[in-house]
Amino acid sequence: MQRLQDRVAVITGGASGIGLATARRFAQEGAKVVVADLDETAGKAAADEVGGLFVRADVTREDDVTAMYAAAKETYGSVDIAFNNAGISPPDDDSILETGLDAWRRVQEVNLTSVYLCCKHVIPYMRTQGKGSIINTASFVARMGAATSQISYTASKGGVLAMSRELGVQFAREGIRVNALCPGPVNTPLLQELFAKDPERAARRLVHVPVGRFAEATEIAAAVAFLASDDASFITASEFLVDGGISGA
Ligand code: NAI
Repeated sequence: MQRLQDRVAVITGGASGIGLATARRFAQEGAKVVVADLDETAGKAAADEVGGLFVRADVTREDDVTAMYAAAKETYGSVDIAFNNAGISPPDDDSILETGLDAWRRVQEVNLTSVYLCCKHVIPYMRTQGKGSIINTASFVARMGAATSQISYTASKGGVLAMSRELGVQFAREGIRVNALCPGPVNTPLLQELFAKDPERAARRLVHVPVGRFAEATEIAAAVAFLASDDASFITASEFLVDGGISGA
């Protein structure tokens, strides 16, 4: 028996990076995987690869989010694991003095409001089942100030952290665990995009990573699989750091 045997897992942002690596890992551990993403081509390819279901969803749209969980329930019979992970990187100059209101709002919408919508609409399924694991992707930047200014992004991830903590406490006695995942820098298209805009950013960042390298998405996926599984049965409302030691330095 595998750790996630026959658990139904919905992964937002499952077409790329951390979400894609987690879709693969969940499937290896026996889960039935629903890949939800804006990107239809990559999303379908990911779902096909893991033998799962693709749902095109914009996680900032409430009707897309409700349809995504309804599709999971209809196809596989339950929603046991929600990995609320879709997100976007900061706008180009994300300092408090430069970031415009539209850019600020867009980052909050994709990175934070989406997590509110996903939690709001998945918890009723989990309540009915009396069981569930929610993992919300925050970031190490939610716990510490970054020298590279990314105020809208950092604020959005701080919101994810605080919301996850509160939901973890609120629903603990109903068998629903809610944890915030705080990855350090991970070698994904999102990070590559940031480095392409500012090539010296990689070197600046690396100085602060005690292990001396960026994470691979598979290393984050391993932590998500653990949090999703019953091995983490006493872990809820946590800030789960997978950051190569950054926040400890
Ligand atoms: P990625 O860019 O490789 O993947 C993000 C996925 O989210 C893409 O497939 C994209 O199509 C999807 N997406 C974006 N907006 C969406 C929307 N409105 N609706 C549905 N899907 C949408 O990024 P990566 O690096 O895998 O990031 C995943 C999460 O991890 C994000 O929340 C990010 O903020 C967070 N994170 C990433 C770190 C890194 O260094 N890569 C570090 C810490 C946190």
